[in-house]
Amino acid sequence: MDIISMRSISKDEITSLIDLAEKIEFRSIDINISDRLVALLFFEPSTRTAFSFDTAIKRLGGKTLLMQEAKSSSVQKGESFADTIKTVSQYVDAIVIRSAVEGAARYTSEIVDIPVINAGDGANQHPTQALLDLYTIKKRQGTVENRKVAIVGDLRYGRAVYSLVYGLAKFNVELYLISPEHLQIRPYVRDELDAMGITYHQGDDISSVLEEVDIMYVTRIQRERFAGQYEYEKVKDSYQITRDMIEACNLKENFTLMHPLPRVNEITTDVDSLPCAHYFQQAKNGVYMRQAVMATLLGAV
Ligand code: NCD
Repeated sequence: MDIISMRSISKDEITSLIDLAEKIEFRSIDINISDRLVALLFFEPSTRTAFSFDTAIKRLGGKTLLMQEAKSSSVQKGESFADTIKTVSQYVDAIVIRSAVEGAARYTSEIVDIPVINAGDGANQHPTQALLDLYTIKKRQGTVENRKVAIVGDLRYGRAVYSLVYGLAKFNVELYLISPEHLQIRPYVRDELDAMGITYHQGDDISSVLEEVDIMYVTRIQRERFAGQYEYEKVKDSYQITRDMIEACNLKENFTLMHPLPRVNEITTDVDSLPCAHYFQQAKNGVYMRQAVMATLLGAV
């Protein structure tokens, strides 16, 4: 089994990963992968995802080979991506890969015989981020089913957004897609939401939805995916959630503010101490979810 895209992970698979993450967090299961070695190949920068996979594997007793700088690989000597990947796959039991190239993880899964996990491929998918987001929602709200979720920010280039939308769509949610006009979600996603019968609203204003939703998921404008600095400058300060804004609202009781991190200026730091702020909790939940993913893919449960 590989984890490449939330489009191809079933609701049953998501639910069992959430259940397993919960058992791992509350220590009602003992998993040991001390005889396993996993390669973490990060061809694009990462703090949370790389460290959280590394932590997850080591907490299960496993070992990792971490490559965080493509500069240190032989790709720099002219070796093809395929040869590098095939070689690494001779050494390890699974590969976690992040790349700026859309489709890189799927391609990897096609040329190796071991499990592959997509830790982000360009503006395409970041499935383990969505799985930890769904785990966070389940913990905080008791269920993912029928939630009203606003997704705010860069809906065009944010891969965390694409994975989350496909994950949420399996739980009959209602979506509020809030972005500047130029950063709206790609049309094929809207067509697929229509085909799945998911209700969604599009807009560019946060204040009109804050009191409507159970969850607001805020994302960073993805500067590195823009064609030029000028295009980025035009939209970079489109949204900012402040403490004043939140305190002035009559929010739902369990209102949850989420963000995959890193944040730039989308949420001011004075929001962090409010009970609704769950982004650091998300980062913590990421370790439990990645433990669940690794244990499942390595056949250790
Ligand atoms: C996200 C990513 O890399 O797509 N970060 C993460 O893994 N938590 C979100 C982002 O970079 O904005």
